[in-house]
Amino acid sequence: MQVQAVSTTPIDGQKPGTSGLRKKVTEFSTPGYLENYVQAIFDAWGAEGKTLVLGGDGRFFNKAAMATVLRMAAANGVTRMIVGRDGLLSTPAASHLIRTRQADGGLILSASHNPGGPDGDFGLKLNVASGGPAPEAVTDAIFAASGAISRYLILDNDAPALDTLGEAPLGDMIIEMVDPVSDYADLMEQLFDFDAIRALFANGFTMCFDAMHAVTGPYAIEILERRLGAARGTVVNGVPSEDFNGGHPDPNPVWAHVLFDLMMGSEAPDFGAASDGDGDRNMILGRGAYVTPSDSLAVLVANAQLAPGYAGGISGVARSMPTSAAADRVARALGIEAFQTPTGWKFFGNLLDHGRITICGEESAGTGSDHVREKDGLWAVLLWLNILARRGQSVAEIMVDHWARFGRDYYSRHDYEALPKPEAEALVADLRATLPGLSGRTFAGLGVSNAEDFAYLDPIDGSTSARQGIILQFTTGERAVLRLSGTGTEGATLRVYLERFEGPEGNHGLDTQEVLAPLARAVDQIAGIATRTGRTAPDVMT
Ligand code: G1P
Ligand code: ZN
Repeated sequence: MQVQAVSTTPIDGQKPGTSGLRKKVTEFSTPGYLENYVQAIFDAWGAEGKTLVLGGDGRFFNKAAMATVLRMAAANGVTRMIVGRDGLLSTPAASHLIRTRQADGGLILSASHNPGGPDGDFGLKLNVASGGPAPEAVTDAIFAASGAISRYLILDNDAPALDTLGEAPLGDMIIEMVDPVSDYADLMEQLFDFDAIRALFANGFTMCFDAMHAVTGPYAIEILERRLGAARGTVVNGVPSEDFNGGHPDPNPVWAHVLFDLMMGSEAPDFGAASDGDGDRNMILGRGAYVTPSDSLAVLVANAQLAPGYAGGISGVARSMPTSAAADRVARALGIEAFQTPTGWKFFGNLLDHGRITICGEESAGTGSDHVREKDGLWAVLLWLNILARRGQSVAEIMVDHWARFGRDYYSRHDYEALPKPEAEALVADLRATLPGLSGRTFAGLGVSNAEDFAYLDPIDGSTSARQGIILQFTTGERAVLRLSGTGTEGATLRVYLERFEGPEGNHGLDTQEVLAPLARAVDQIAGIATRTGRTAPDVMT
């Protein structure tokens, strides 16, 4: 066996606002491209003597990429690589495996909820020993290395097939193939009242879990159908497919509309849920009831103590800034701390590591806790099941109770996709420039009380992150947030987040888009979305 040093030209390693690299498969599979980025990781972060975890969501290019990563890891001196069988690991399961095996980190091959296949997206990210995404100092160093390196190291032997459990050598490195599901399923069994959930299913409770042809299929079948006794067929689209069967594995009312329509129809089961490409996002539905991710976070915080893993109470809660204030209201009632962080899971890491928060979430359908350092789709689904089992109420009844106690934050996100980048950037820059003069003015009948560009001061390490999104606050309690997506691979996406609070005594049964229409009009007047982009309606409303 031989280590080859192959000369290569630097790539644009995508300065990561998100951790890692996400690009079209066509770009990722150009000779030397993946190799360059992997070598940049090993050069900047180290490889020698490390134990790493490797897995992905099973999308197109996963297997070929994994073989390359294995040969390069061996050539760079990695000691042990713990790999999910068939190359599969959901993102939360990878995070758990890094922690439970006390590995130095892991490489996760996924583009999350983005479409897959030869024309779809691929991604690779580094997680560190905490189980969470690499911190910015590390990703900055990797970015710098990706634009500077001139060679990569690779073993000339082939990597073994990834279908047999147990150990196999590759050069001086040991590859340890593990069952991707069992450790994660065991963790869930510790956190939740499986007896209560089993009894719920035994009493005829029905559920549909849409795995969206992505990685959570095997996890959901093992946990829901095998360990919890849900009827066979509870999990649909449960076999991971390389292109997600042509779908867009993002669990929201638009991309998971088949499940959504089922839950709104006369044949609806008691409970519906879905997860995304790599298993970290979730969607929660009851019969005739859609729970927004912001509300879901609030309900989970309010009821977490019903689960054994959280019976001692929770220390605090954090939400990303564009997420509605619903969780803050619960935190106030519980007398626990509530934090508002910039968009992106990495901002929760410090708070979780230091015990300041137990549960956190984002409006983009990510919820999780200190059990791992990633958001966790099935975790949220199981906590909901635990709550449903212990409260003996339907999803709709739980929401009605919740709003009667805390009030309701009507909430919606409007996305304008594939805008020309310069146009979108100019829109935000111009809006930013007008912020100082907005307070006190009225737009579409709504008075602006405050306008600011969100800056975050990390309470643990004192670091600051500026320009994290524009917040418009109105005198009648509405709030709007505008920011550009950092994860798209085509043009720019403008996200407009709208919310309006209706107190405990208010009307909680109104149509969300109708409630938010005046606010949407005011935002359009302020930012000039329609006139500047020519778009009269958003592409996606979640
Ligand atoms: C989106 C979500 C954000 C999430 C990220 C990664 O980022 O909005 O909450 O953390 O994906 O899953 P965005 O495209 O808005 O930058
Ligand atoms: Zn994801």
